[in-house]
Amino acid sequence: MDKLLIEGGYKLNGSVTASGAKNSALPILASSILLRDKLTLSNIPHLNDITTMLEILSSMGAYMTFNENMDIEVDTSQINNLKARYELVKTMRASILVLGPLLARFHEAEVALPGGCAIGSRPVNLHLDCMRKLGVDIDTSNGYIKASAKGGLIGADIEFSQVTVTGTENAIMAASLAQGQTRIFNAAKEPEVVDLISCLKKMGANIEGGGSEKITVNGVDSLNPCEYEVMDDRIEIGTYLTAVTMTKGKIEIKCSFPKILETIIDKLIISGANITFSEESIELEMDQKPSPVNISTAPFPLFPTDMQAQFIALNSISTGKSQVVENVFENRFMHVQELIRMGGDINLQGNTATIVGSKNGLFAAPVMATYQMASASLVLAGLVA
Ligand code: EPU
Repeated sequence: MDKLLIEGGYKLNGSVTASGAKNSALPILASSILLRDKLTLSNIPHLNDITTMLEILSSMGAYMTFNENMDIEVDTSQINNLKARYELVKTMRASILVLGPLLARFHEAEVALPGGCAIGSRPVNLHLDCMRKLGVDIDTSNGYIKASAKGGLIGADIEFSQVTVTGTENAIMAASLAQGQTRIFNAAKEPEVVDLISCLKKMGANIEGGGSEKITVNGVDSLNPCEYEVMDDRIEIGTYLTAVTMTKGKIEIKCSFPKILETIIDKLIISGANITFSEESIELEMDQKPSPVNISTAPFPLFPTDMQAQFIALNSISTGKSQVVENVFENRFMHVQELIRMGGDINLQGNTATIVGSKNGLFAAPVMATYQMASASLVLAGLVA
């Protein structure tokens, strides 16, 4: 879809079912490479990034079938091409997630180096360093990562100098079939990492410590086929909740119980939303102009960078002044200039946005979307403009 046309000014009321989490589905799809068999997945969201990952797997020789519920069966027994081409990788940085599984199973991989990105420089040095620790030789030339470990991967201690979500996922997948024990320190604790670990354990991997700073993986010889249901998308749920907080409506979201949404829910409550939840759903009702909320992004369990843009939109129509500090990516503020074009009063200094809630609200304007969350924040602004 090239263009969205939004007529603002309506309350949002209704009930929706959460989609599967993109950032769980991507590493879990990549983990199918570890198998010499079939992985059957449900609750996979229908998104371009998922199609790209399926295209990468298919270009390597994997077969996919879809049943009537859109469950996906990935059969990686016939993989014979160990290359992830630039044409596909350039459209999605998460393609780097095939590196660990390819090396673990085939001891060889060629993956295009992801280039620049709309939200920061996003290097992959931590991914490469951890593969080197596991005994992999890496050469980066002609825009490709050429990696090989002749005798197979050997378990090792890996300490990340910075928390990295996909870096941790690559390390876990690589270590699952390595010889001996791998200990990962300063690991990412994100729920999507825990979801990947749950799927790998269902395949027979030996992993302990998911959700903590230290993850221990004891390599096994092979993994078994399994069926797995991907968790719900906490960022999509958080975005719906923010939309209804901004438009003053009432929503029920059917989703698995969201302990993991705590930081987002706490901020929406401060903003004035009335939120109740059960094991199967969250309800939110809002009947006032939102109060401003200060945000500072950081790795889980703190406030997610993937909700930063949506909260800048919310603060733009709030009753006062707020600060939003972005600590994870250095350039994740492309939505700010667009929100200013809609009447937002936002001052950007370094990694801090100071926002003064607009007394007259936002007004409609043509705006430019960039990456997903920036685009979502502009949709939210359009809904209230
Ligand atoms: N970093 C490095 N070197 C590396 C890896 C990361 O310097 O080798 C830096 C990054 O530049 C960044 C920080 O470490 O400043 C954290 O980045 P991280 O590696 O955790 O990000 P990621 O794994 O590439 C995932 C999500 C992002 C989400 C971030 C942070 C997936 C597929 N992507 O990215 O989600 O914003 O974690 O939570 O899981 C999205 O869904 O569109 C998205 C961007």
